[in-house]
Amino acid sequence: MAKAKPKSKAGVKAPTSAVPPDLGTLEADILAEIERAADLAALDAVRVAALGKKGRVSALMRSISEVPPEERKAFGQAVNGLKARINAALEARKAALASAALEARLARERADITLPVRPGPLAEGRVHPVSQVMEEITEIFADMGFSIAEGPDIETDENNFTKLNIPPEHPARQEHDTFYFNARDGRDGARLVLRTHTSPVQIRTMESSEPPIRIIAPGRVYRCDSDQTHTPMFHQVEGLVIDTETHMGHLKWCLEAFAKAFFEVDTVKMRFRASHFPFTEPSMEVDIGYSKVGDALRIGEGDDWMEILGCGMVHPNVLRNVGYDPEVHQGFAFGVGIDRLAMLKYGMADLRAFFAADLRWLAHYGFPPLDVPSLARGLSS
Ligand code: DAH
Repeated sequence: MAKAKPKSKAGVKAPTSAVPPDLGTLEADILAEIERAADLAALDAVRVAALGKKGRVSALMRSISEVPPEERKAFGQAVNGLKARINAALEARKAALASAALEARLARERADITLPVRPGPLAEGRVHPVSQVMEEITEIFADMGFSIAEGPDIETDENNFTKLNIPPEHPARQEHDTFYFNARDGRDGARLVLRTHTSPVQIRTMESSEPPIRIIAPGRVYRCDSDQTHTPMFHQVEGLVIDTETHMGHLKWCLEAFAKAFFEVDTVKMRFRASHFPFTEPSMEVDIGYSKVGDALRIGEGDDWMEILGCGMVHPNVLRNVGYDPEVHQGFAFGVGIDRLAMLKYGMADLRAFFAADLRWLAHYGFPPLDVPSLARGLSS
């Protein structure tokens, strides 16, 4: 090349500073830099230094004006060829770096999906026995075709008492140890109450729907009472069935089927004892037979009795109070103490511990949250 320059026409200044004497050296330099680039950022810096606006190859391109006209074509082709090879080398290096980066990331983020699940909140959290038993009861009655109804914790005197055939001055009102609010019902001026039982949901359901009715209503209830087996707040499930031909046989079958399913036994010793509730006639209390074997309770057999619920045929006055004709519609109702059922089934002695929010108690008596009670897979296993 040094020899070629003197070939230029006399008077035309040979290109000097801008044109390196050896394109081959420049190419080798740049290709080596490309190979050395350790990551995409370094590679881009090499690209800018070569092909960028102020890059070495771009400067070469601009210097074409200084090349003698007869050499411009060859010069241009040489620089373009150089440019193309640099671009190809850049692309190749970029692909190599990208796949190396991907390999590194795959190696770093490899997950062994055969490892056991890490203990997290789901493994440590526990479902409270009251929630568990509510789920179990709901599952059993849903399977029998009952739907779930709900009512508010703050009730009117009328729904909690009067319409359930407990008029003012009725002695049953004293037995309920009612919590009264100062606030009054807008319609009759009577003080609002914390509901003392779930039975007002019977009234709400009958007033808002037509027979046939088949509902259960689980929820919180309140009475001013506290000892080993009573807390001021506790839980009940109300049941109500209204139809045209419902009778005591249905009631008895239904509660027996419930008790067997709930205690997960094939036979269960039950006793229907005549009792009195203002909202049912006749009324009964139901006891479950059990025996103590060491510390454990054996449910459904034995000579001891534990009361678990009240029930009866809905009183004609209650039906009239919601606008039903007792000559056409009748049915049965029951009210179950959930906390008491939980104590019986899972062997807790003190009801107050249910609401003490002691994590050690919950860890011991609670249930794994992923074991949802189902009749097909077993309620409590
Ligand atoms: N409400 C009653 C109570 O809390 C329980 C009860 C008894 C509910 C008989 C009923 C029933 O539906 O028929 O003591």
